[in-house]
Amino acid sequence: MDDLRPLPAEVAALLRRVGAPPRLAAHLRLVHDVAAQLLDWLAAHAPGLVVDRAAVLFGAATHDIGKTLHPEELAGPGSAHEAAGARMLEEFGDLARFAANHARWDRPDATPEELLVTLADKVWKGKRVDDLERRVAGLLPGEPWEAFMALDDELTRIADTADERLAFQNAYPTA
Ligand SMILES: [Fe+2]
Repeated sequence: MDDLRPLPAEVAALLRRVGAPPRLAAHLRLVHDVAAQLLDWLAAHAPGLVVDRAAVLFGAATHDIGKTLHPEELAGPGSAHEAAGARMLEEFGDLARFAANHARWDRPDATPEELLVTLADKVWKGKRVDDLERRVAGLLPGEPWEAFMALDDELTRIADTADERLAFQNAYPTA
């Protein structure tokens, strides 16, 4: 995990400013890195697909920022961090939506960018969600079954190193 991509500078500064717990910052780095891997794969396999790369990276890097105010949700279930995160990101306008929406990917109007942030937030730890993966595969060109299988291969590749990511994240304290 030495080669994780750095967070966007404005996000790294924000996390320092709000005092994000170390484990949260580690989680956001991991999901951001996986989102970047997915974006690189899409750029190679679906070059015609228009995705706002900066928005996906920002969303991945901030989606759980509300857990700064709800640290109990770092180690347990809960959704209070979603609205709290969106409020913490108000200065970033529409980009705050990822914090509010990352658990609600099954809305019919979820955008490709939102689907990708949620997909990164699942597959980083090896979690596979068939319906979500089908929606993302539906964005890809070509024969649907082939697109699904190609995406499945890439997600399997990422999921294969999930244990390393979990160990990296869990080495950081929650407070
Ligand atoms: Fe997350």
